[in-house]
Amino acid sequence: MAGAAEKNGAAGEKLPRHIAIIMDGNGRWAKKRGLPRKAGHAVGAETFRRIATYCKNLGMDYLTVYAFSTENWKRSDEEVGAIMGLLEKYLHESVEKMEKDRIRLKILGDTTALSPAIRGLIEKTDAIAARLPGCFQANVCLNYGGRDEIVRAVNRFAAEHPGEAITEAAMADCLDTAGIPDPDLIIRTGGEYRISNFLMWESAYSELYFTDVLWPDFSEKDIDEAVAEYRRRDRRFGGVKA
Ligand code: IPE
Ligand code: IPE
Ligand code: MG
Repeated sequence: MAGAAEKNGAAGEKLPRHIAIIMDGNGRWAKKRGLPRKAGHAVGAETFRRIATYCKNLGMDYLTVYAFSTENWKRSDEEVGAIMGLLEKYLHESVEKMEKDRIRLKILGDTTALSPAIRGLIEKTDAIAARLPGCFQANVCLNYGGRDEIVRAVNRFAAEHPGEAITEAAMADCLDTAGIPDPDLIIRTGGEYRISNFLMWESAYSELYFTDVLWPDFSEKDIDEAVAEYRRRDRRFGGVKA
């Protein structure tokens, strides 16, 4: 493991080991330019590639992004189709590039509702990820909902341990994020101040950071600003300051 938790930035201060991002604002970005919403998603996909590379190069261990929620199926067939097309393209590229780029891609969410083509690609990226232990991990939440994840985890536990009471540790082991440390910092772009069903369990003690920047405009400088703000936070986890 790269051990970003111990890694220090230029200012000698700690980097978050795990950043999670609610990538919001693609549609409004497109609307402002008189473009169809899918044009915003296409630029947003490029932003994700750029930001993932930047986080990896900074020395973080994990980046988790919210790409498609369990509620996003409410959108038009055209928009859902465009987003699924972009995700399929990204998975194709990842099959080619993950090993060279040393990026462990992991899809989180209920994949059973996804197309056979996407599920086939996820099987391939999972197999490649298994050969990249310790590499920077990019988690893409796809057909993901925090409540859905919790319900699936509880049902899995009940099926595997009939009659047993669940514990916090057993719960964490049954989530899609099993083995992944909780996010230190959650960023939401696009100016809304809500969680929208993202990482409901894992965000218990995450620092939250909201910015008006629309996701397609989000840059490396915006990550630097969020990290600088994170460094000013005092994380007490319910305790008191020493
Ligand atoms: C985020 O951008 C991407 C997804 C939810 C898939 P939006 O598509 O929600 O963009 P806005 O919020 O409408 O601007
Ligand atoms: C959250 O954004 C989901 C993703 C970024 C994938 P939404 O745009 O779907 O959230 P709401 O509807 O504004 O809460
Ligand atoms: Mg939105």
